[in-house]
Amino acid sequence: MCQQCAAQHPKWVGRCNECGAWESVVEETIAEKSKGPARTSIAVGGVAGAKPIPLSKVEPQAHRRTSTGLTELDRVLGGGLVPGSVTLLGGDPGIGKSTIGLQIMAAFSSAGHQTLYVSGEESPEQVKLRADRLGTDESVLVLPETCLEAVLGHTEAIQPAILLIDSIQTMHSRELSSAAGSVAQVRECAAALVRHAKASARPTILVGHVTKEGTIAGPRVLEHVVDTVLYFEGEQGGGLRLLRAVKNRFGPTNEVGVFEMAETGLIDVLDASRLLLAERPEGAPGSAVLPAIEGTRPILVEVQALAAKSVLAMPRRTTLGVESNRIAVLTAIVDKRAGLKLYEHDLFVSIAGGIRVQEPAADLAIIAAIGSSARDTPLPKDLVLFGEVGLAGEVRSVRHAETRLREAAKLGFARAIIPEATAKQIRPPDGLSITGVSSVTDLFSDLWAGG
Ligand SMILES: Nc1ncnc2c1ncn2[C@@H]1O[C@H](COP(=O)(O)OP(=O)(O)OP(=O)(O)O)[C@@H](O)[C@H]1O
Ligand SMILES: [Mg+2]
Repeated sequence: MCQQCAAQHPKWVGRCNECGAWESVVEETIAEKSKGPARTSIAVGGVAGAKPIPLSKVEPQAHRRTSTGLTELDRVLGGGLVPGSVTLLGGDPGIGKSTIGLQIMAAFSSAGHQTLYVSGEESPEQVKLRADRLGTDESVLVLPETCLEAVLGHTEAIQPAILLIDSIQTMHSRELSSAAGSVAQVRECAAALVRHAKASARPTILVGHVTKEGTIAGPRVLEHVVDTVLYFEGEQGGGLRLLRAVKNRFGPTNEVGVFEMAETGLIDVLDASRLLLAERPEGAPGSAVLPAIEGTRPILVEVQALAAKSVLAMPRRTTLGVESNRIAVLTAIVDKRAGLKLYEHDLFVSIAGGIRVQEPAADLAIIAAIGSSARDTPLPKDLVLFGEVGLAGEVRSVRHAETRLREAAKLGFARAIIPEATAKQIRPPDGLSITGVSSVTDLFSDLWAGG
């Protein structure tokens, strides 16, 4: 089986012919089925001996959600943890998974609930060190254990209100002979924990060393069995962390929580825009402010561009936080419509603060930042821009225009350049004047008329 994409191979091969990964195929020994009743006969969330019933007879259950103690995490979850829900918390090494895990457990503990923190990676002393640093409630029960059956045994005995496994890759089941961390073990342990969570209505959190690219034990294996998948993102160096819900059976997806990693743990960032713009160089060419939409809320981010005369035959194009193909398209549009001769320049485009922006609404701000750097002329410091740019250089409307403008006005911006079609439809918030542009040529003549 391939450790990356979980594809089955009848014999060992050096390269997986499904996903193309090298040396990812490992042998998996399938354990003999036990003689007893098949354990998989209970559907996730179901009961033993269930009978078919019409939906009209099913009693609706209001989900009683429990707060995690972190406002931003509650938002991402859709209001808190649902009983019996299983949440996968993935992310790169060192991003803060154990930290947020301990903070959640401490919040449950201080609300008077019994908790169980299963630490398969760190000793209780290490967890205690972290708890001391965070200054959290220390009545959290820590269990240094990696055997699934032992963990389930302790959980039955303690009956905690919440269970956290750090991490699912360290767990192994005695029923399988393959190594801990292998696809079969991870899948079996996760499935057993899901069954247990459903049967006991206990919220369970699985920490996973899972990057979005899925380097270890293929995230797809886990993503299908759990209810909610949360990914931690952020730059190791920078203090800002984004928590993104990519799957949520009990709430919205694509909702984003913003945290700051401090010595005392992860702190909710309710005003991300202010934090992201705090170090914006004023009066510097190549900097534009974009009111972006993350999930359902607006965040003002700084788009930075640097266009420098190249000595290379093939000028360099480097991007951080924006898609490089998008930049290639926008560069060609700017060359064609505004004659900037960017093919003679190395071009670097990035979003400050380690944020990733994927929406087409960023096009106008990216073009303005590139133009500003190429012409070595700063943009007005009280200006924001958003709008999608098409291949003919036309500027198209984007969603949530009013929300974006309100956030910009709240942070003291006085001018906005937006798609003309949108400008005709909406009323700008107080203190903000809007200019509609219908093409890239319009944008350049508005910004640098006569220059
Ligand atoms: N004294 C400190 N002050 C501020 N931040 C700290 C301090 N100590 C640790 N950190 C932060 O905590 C991070 C590690 O957090 P944590 O152990 O929760 O990550 P993790 O995702 O569980 O890592 P792993 O994948 O190794 O289990 C560090 O990368 C660092 O950013
Ligand atoms: Mg950890």
